[in-house]
Amino acid sequence: MPNTADPAASHPPAVLVMGAGSIGCWLGGRLQAAGATVHFVGRPRMLDALAHHGLTLTDRDGSRLQLLAEQLKLHPSLPADLAPDLVLLCVKSAATATAAVELGGLLPPGTPVVSMQNGIGNAAIAQSAAPQLVLLPGMVPFNVSEPGPGHLHRGTDGQLAAQDHPALRPLLPLFAAAGLPLTLHADLRPLQWGKLLLNLNNAVNALSGLPLRAQLLDRDLRCCTAALIAEALVVLRRAGIEPARLSPLPPDWLPWVLRLPTPLFRVLAARMLRIDDQARSSMADDLALGRPTEVDAIYGEVQRLAARVQASAARSGRIAELVKAWPEHHLPVAGRALRRAIGA
Ligand SMILES: NC(=O)c1ccc[n+]([C@@H]2O[C@H](COP(=O)([O-])OP(=O)(O)OC[C@H]3O[C@@H](n4cnc5c(N)ncnc54)[C@H](OP(=O)(O)O)[C@@H]3O)[C@@H](O)[C@H]2O)c1
Repeated sequence: MPNTADPAASHPPAVLVMGAGSIGCWLGGRLQAAGATVHFVGRPRMLDALAHHGLTLTDRDGSRLQLLAEQLKLHPSLPADLAPDLVLLCVKSAATATAAVELGGLLPPGTPVVSMQNGIGNAAIAQSAAPQLVLLPGMVPFNVSEPGPGHLHRGTDGQLAAQDHPALRPLLPLFAAAGLPLTLHADLRPLQWGKLLLNLNNAVNALSGLPLRAQLLDRDLRCCTAALIAEALVVLRRAGIEPARLSPLPPDWLPWVLRLPTPLFRVLAARMLRIDDQARSSMADDLALGRPTEVDAIYGEVQRLAARVQASAARSGRIAELVKAWPEHHLPVAGRALRRAIGA
């Protein structure tokens, strides 16, 4: 059985980060600094960087946390003898099933695994691949980028959330001590969909080639995001799903506010614009590095729900195609051209 997870107990809680990338290293580093024993399972690119430079976490409030390389437990593959209190599944969506099979093969049955991934279906995909583990959906509202080797930077704010489960409750003080307060919800789907609505900007950002802040200050590009969100809201309404509010504005207002002229948008969406100048969506990083993107987990999810409730998700379909075709063109798309291409 997994360790007792009470942070007040004699041994510190053990956390396994499956997928030591931007989110995994950010969460794992903060939890380790708060007293957890954290194991990072990752790929050579990130593990080599951590082994050479250690892990530096910076935040938009100016705070800085440094863990030396020798303080980090780095694993190129999942060790056979671990019984963590908690696993944070932090791989990109395309890698979910493979990572879950690895976890299911080596971890004790009943180990809780929280998917910290975007999209709606990753926890279910992982649960099918590892039926003996307890898979729970989670939600990370903030953005983490990698400005340099071993350096992760949080560029936006927000509070972590996960599906409620008794195994998670004893770990709440640890998350709070790490400055990552975690809220537990009986049904995470409204929050997941609330996050997915905001993620509909990811492809717009990636295709634009601009940092997030600059992209949000371009009205044509905002109109693209507005059209994608408006389309998804119709689909959600028809499916009877009420997305949670994750931005300063209620979801229904987002398309209207995004379409405002830029001077008005600057005023009404001031909090939305509180983003570091250099922050980009992780889909932009994926395109830049030639990695598979999460278009299917985001736009594909809207398309699948639309098909179930007989609504249209044509814009989601078109922008997903543009992202998939991007490696052939490799050029940023201007706002006007993107509006024409997706009918925004
Ligand atoms: N970054 C953000 O700001 C942010 C915010 C909220 C949510 N999220 C979500 O969090 C998830 C992770 O995003 P991320 O930006 O952290 O991705 P990332 O930086 O690419 O990190 C994932 C890491 O996991 C590695 N990996 C893949 N399969 C593995 C396996 N079987 N074992 C060990 N390591 C494995 C990847 O290596 P390879 O690259 O070699 O495959 C990569 O280094 C995504 O679903 C994303 O949507 C991200």
